Amino acid sequence: MGAVIKVENITYRYPLTEKPAIKNLSFEIEEGGFYGIIGPNGSGKTTLCALLRGFAPSFYKGDLEGQVLVDEKPTTAYLEGELSLRIGYVFQNPFNQISGVKDTVFEEIAYGLENFGVPVDEIEDRVVRAMKLTDIESLAMKKPFEISGGQQQRMALASTLVLEPGILIIDEPTSQLDPEGTESVFKVIETLKQTKKTVILVEHKIDLIAEYAEKIIVLKNGEAIRIGDKQDILSDIALEAEGIQLPQYAALGSRLRERGVDLEYIPITEKQALDVIGKAISKEAKTNVVH
Ligand SMILES: Nc1ncnc2c1ncn2[C@@H]1O[C@H](COP(=O)(O)OP(=O)(O)OP(=O)(O)O)[C@@H](O)[C@H]1O
Ligand SMILES: [Mg+2]
Repeated sequence: MGAVIKVENITYRYPLTEKPAIKNLSFEIEEGGFYGIIGPNGSGKTTLCALLRGFAPSFYKGDLEGQVLVDEKPTTAYLEGELSLRIGYVFQNPFNQISGVKDTVFEEIAYGLENFGVPVDEIEDRVVRAMKLTDIESLAMKKPFEISGGQQQRMALASTLVLEPGILIIDEPTSQLDPEGTESVFKVIETLKQTKKTVILVEHKIDLIAEYAEKIIVLKNGEAIRIGDKQDILSDIALEAEGIQLPQYAALGSRLRERGVDLEYIPITEKQALDVIGKAISKEAKTNVVH
């Protein structure tokens, strides 16, 4: 599978700012891949999402050096709205995504499809499916502004999924959610992964990134300090010194190694921790028998 997005040495400044929000960034997004973008507050995660979607520079203006290609064409060469069916975008703050012109959650989710002239029967089917997937069927008749932040977050996700884009950019979909709501959003994301969609996800909850993502982009001060496979990056304890939070299991594994426990690899998920610590214990037991 080829690259669906190519980022070619981009540096981007918002209007009236000197310091670039994104600096010298190059990488490719492969079709069907699951990419996690991580990094401290203000490191440029949302700005990068906006650049991938073409909102920057078209909407935010500012100054872009280099280019972002979507399906081999620069984002700046697309017409207004042309990318919205190809790339679904879920905003960090779900409030920003609500149209304000619809009275019910159902209508809000249908809104995008109406704009694209989809037949009424099909709209209903697709909206029901999107609500099922995001587990908000019971909210269908509620007012979009009167549901909770977490419910709005799931509605925003449903409004995007209903358009069935091949690429999804999701900026911190769980910031308003409790652990249960977070789990349910990640279940949806897991389903998307199985349908071979390309997913680009910003998320602070690093244990979830460790569980679900395949590739990681680590941003700091607008620069990518690491790009690569999640196993290599999330087990790299040196990143902690850079202010990057790593999965709790990686920190645990590294502390165990420091204390002389012979771990085969640094785990990044609970499953891996159980595997690798289990192996170390049985190795230890065998050595003790020999003595
Ligand atoms: N519209 C804007 N105009 C000018 N500067 C901006 C604008 N939006 C963001 N910035 C600046 O760009 C930098 C990157 O911000 P961005 O929102 O991309 O970071 P982030 O990693 O998404 O942070 P967070 O984790 O808080 O969401 C910050 O220094 C921020 O102040
Ligand atoms: Mg952000």
